[in-house]
Amino acid sequence: MKKSYQNLGVNSIYNMKQVIHRKLSSSLLRLGLIVLLTFSYSISAQEGEAAQEGDPVKGKSLYNANCAACHKLDKKMTGPALRNVEARLAEEEGLDREWLNAWIRNSAGLIKSGDDYANKIYEEYNKVAMTAFPQLSDQDISDILAYTAAPPPKPEEPVAGQQVVVQKPGISNEIILGALAVLFGLLALALVLVKKTLDRFAEAKGIEVEEKEKRMPLWKAFAQNQFLVLVTTVILLLGSAYFVYGYLMQVGVDQGYEPVQPIHYSHRIHAGENGIDCKYCHSSARVSKHSGIPSLNICMNCHKAIGEVAEATQQEGINEYGVDYNAEIQKLYKAVGWDEDEQAYTGDTSPVKWIRIHNLPDFAYFNHAQHVTVAGVECQTCHGPVEEMEIMYQHSSLTMGWCINCHRETNVKVEDNAYYEKIHEELSKKYGVEELTAAQMGGLECGKCHY
Ligand code: HEC
Ligand code: HEC
Ligand code: HEC
Ligand code: HEC
Ligand code: HEC
Ligand code: HEC
Repeated sequence: MKKSYQNLGVNSIYNMKQVIHRKLSSSLLRLGLIVLLTFSYSISAQEGEAAQEGDPVKGKSLYNANCAACHKLDKKMTGPALRNVEARLAEEEGLDREWLNAWIRNSAGLIKSGDDYANKIYEEYNKVAMTAFPQLSDQDISDILAYTAAPPPKPEEPVAGQQVVVQKPGISNEIILGALAVLFGLLALALVLVKKTLDRFAEAKGIEVEEKEKRMPLWKAFAQNQFLVLVTTVILLLGSAYFVYGYLMQVGVDQGYEPVQPIHYSHRIHAGENGIDCKYCHSSARVSKHSGIPSLNICMNCHKAIGEVAEATQQEGINEYGVDYNAEIQKLYKAVGWDEDEQAYTGDTSPVKWIRIHNLPDFAYFNHAQHVTVAGVECQTCHGPVEEMEIMYQHSSLTMGWCINCHRETNVKVEDNAYYEKIHEELSKKYGVEELTAAQMGGLECGKCHY
């Protein structure tokens, strides 16, 4: 009974909070929208002006779609670095926009025509042919060149138009907070004024405002009430016992353990953004007790070709996670002894010692294949949202209670499994149920998990 009253109280406060929260957030939303609209209007106005010359924002997407496979802005790749290419070619080679148009639309044609510089750069890049882009209009090429002429992004400052818009709510949040602070200030002032006016009324009408009589200090009253002292002591004792017990139960539980690994390896980028299947790297999870960490050879299947991440990824790494992804890939190369320039192994290796995160004590037996293959449990059920983890951490507690709870709750998959169908038939008769939990299959027997 007591409990449900408490719940009632908590519930209504909760509801009240929700209503207030909803009202507040809807008005905040409206304010935010107005601010946002104002800003995006000024941005689109700027875009309109820029379009006549060459729009770096459009240029960026054209560049990413057509050129980024072979060119980087600030570094040689298959082709030369393209930052400020128009200005550079004009200054150093006296080449104009017409030459650039001809080159980009059909570089092979220009080379064949005997153009000096075209042949020179073609030789310099070992006669690798650049793709022809006859479909690009003058405006398109203007846009691309405007993008290559844009100053390099500073790490903190957003470059592209979209990103600017995303940042705006941050500013409007500050405005909103400021406005709220002012509002509360005004409210407080109003209250003081109201009290003063009331006092004055009372005085005018001759009503005596009661002066507070001197009370006994609170602690003295408390110390004299033996019952209160007793209750407080009991509560304090129970409280500390609770925390001590909680602390002791934490010993050996490493939930949330998130060590720094020798190479910053991001599951978010590999399993999330690039959708690489867990079992591509943790291939033994399906068939054996252990899931295992992949050998670096598996990494090199891809990383022989991927020496650098995309520029956007690199910026994101620096801005959001403080990690230089490209430097991390260099660590991988160093570990396997890969010479990027020669595209060959040097034989000079230094194995990476990954720090083990999930680790049951020796006296407990856990088998991946049984859970992943036989039971069909998803990796994420036990390991959490791995595809969102920039840094791997232990998601579940891995305590005995955790194993047991799941065995009590999870129904065993028996379809398409002849071995189980027979057992299932017998056991479900024994328990008088349709579905069997892992517990009913014997998943609570000490010997199954303890040697
Ligand atoms: C298939 C790879 C490839 C693609 C795609 C590509 N390029 Fe190139 N580009 C090259 C190579 C290689 C060179 C060096 C000359 C040569 O070997 O043909 C080059 C040279 C150039 C040059 C001369 C630069 C200099 O410093 O002399 C310009 C300008 C250029 N590319 C612009 C572009 C633009 C713009 C795009 C996208 C619309 C593009 N390229 C797409 C491979 C490519
Ligand atoms: C491209 C290879 C690759 C892919 C794909 C991959 N992992 Fe990993 N995984 C690793 C490497 C390398 C480590 C060790 C470094 C670390 O802990 O971050 C690791 C560590 C882990 C660990 C912690 C191991 C420990 O020490 O206890 C778990 C759990 C894990 N991965 C689960 C997953 C899951 C689930 C997926 C799929 C969503 C996945 N991994 C996809 C390479 C990969
Ligand atoms: C199936 C292909 C593939 C495999 C296998 C693979 N990677 Fe990657 N790796 C990628 C891609 C794709 C990127 C991101 C490129 C981008 O976003 O521009 C990347 C990025 C990275 C980065 C930079 C981002 C980060 O995670 O810090 C590192 C370091 C890296 N990989 C290490 C490894 C290691 C170590 C292994 C082996 C355990 C591995 N990779 C296996 C494809 C792969
Ligand atoms: C039923 C829960 C559960 C599921 C499902 C599960 N794991 Fe695990 N995983 C664990 C436990 C528990 C450990 C610790 C095992 C130990 O210390 O012996 C672990 C450890 C690991 C490790 C560390 C190395 C090792 O083998 O001890 C990796 C890597 C891993 N899991 C990856 C995966 C992948 C990938 C999947 C999906 C294919 C997966 N796990 C599914 C519970 C699970
Ligand atoms: C997400 C749910 C889940 C978690 C968490 C889980 N299990 Fe299981 N486990 C199952 C299911 C389902 C089965 C039944 C598999 C089958 O069909 O045989 C099973 C079966 C088993 C079996 C075989 C039981 C038998 O009857 O043969 C063992 C042993 C086992 N689990 C150990 C563990 C241990 C140890 C842990 C904790 C470290 C754990 N499990 C955590 C779901 C789970
Ligand atoms: C589903 C698997 C599973 C079953 C069934 C199981 N245990 Fe455990 N037990 C574990 C795991 C996993 C641990 C390690 C927990 C940790 O490291 O915190 C453990 C730990 C223990 C511990 C060490 C104290 C502790 O909590 O860390 C004792 C004692 C223990 N088990 C006894 C038993 C007894 C007795 C039974 C039978 C009634 C039993 N276990 C059944 C998985 C199981």
